[in-house]
Amino acid sequence: MSTNDIRVTRLGDHLGGEIADLDVQRIGGDIPLEAVKALLFEYQLLCFRDQNLTAQELLDFTRLFGDPDPHILQQFALPGFPDIVVLSNIVEDGRPLGNRKEGFGWHTDLTYMARPAAYTILYGLEVPPDGGDTLFASTYKAYDTLDDDEKARLRPLKGRYSYLKLYESRNNKTPLTAEQRARTPDVAHPLVRVHPETGRQGMYLNLDDCIGVEGDDTVDGKALVSRLFDYTVENFQYRHKWRVRDLLIWDNRGALHTATPYDMERHRRLIYRTSVRGEVPIGAD
Ligand SMILES: [Fe+2]
Repeated sequence: MSTNDIRVTRLGDHLGGEIADLDVQRIGGDIPLEAVKALLFEYQLLCFRDQNLTAQELLDFTRLFGDPDPHILQQFALPGFPDIVVLSNIVEDGRPLGNRKEGFGWHTDLTYMARPAAYTILYGLEVPPDGGDTLFASTYKAYDTLDDDEKARLRPLKGRYSYLKLYESRNNKTPLTAEQRARTPDVAHPLVRVHPETGRQGMYLNLDDCIGVEGDDTVDGKALVSRLFDYTVENFQYRHKWRVRDLLIWDNRGALHTATPYDMERHRRLIYRTSVRGEVPIGAD
């Protein structure tokens, strides 16, 4: 399969495409960005193998897709790069290189923001020989299987999301600053979201920061989101087994993901993450 001579191998039944022999630094040069975005929209998740990027080059790649979105918590940013979050269990000279806990549990990134992340990018500099997989699930594919009545019931609804609730549930010891709180008021996003570039409709849901659903007082919102969420992750999943220097990018509008455990005492993991700020989610009604 190819678009503009980019060879793609399907990774999972539901989402994911592998591109084995393309240096991403050619994108925007002799490889048109639009061709790569078309593949990203088709596969939802792309894995570029064997990339050799500096932190700055990772940022340059990120900026092809939009404005980077720095994380609210800056303590795990790469020094000198506020837009790059380090995920790692490595401790050097007594200082953790990154956040060792983040990303566990199914979710989509930054639902609690007014403009949630459109894309998330992970770059694997060190990966454990086993464990530490990243799982993905397609809310597009799940939505496609719902019957027309259920789709019609969902379209007017909005999920409500709270960063404060999520933060408190994680037993964080440090209270959020006033500035961090001000950046994260509760938000509501359509449960059926329209992709701004393709027009594709799919479910947009998250569970751990969901505080209910607006639009139908007769519905137990949390139970509804929970049911749809479980249905998606149980039936429309892909497991990504990392290789060193994999560069992953996925489109958060139609996908959930989760980290999985690995032996943190025996193995090292070092992943750089960037996010691209998205649009205010567009509803289908
Ligand atoms: Fe995430």
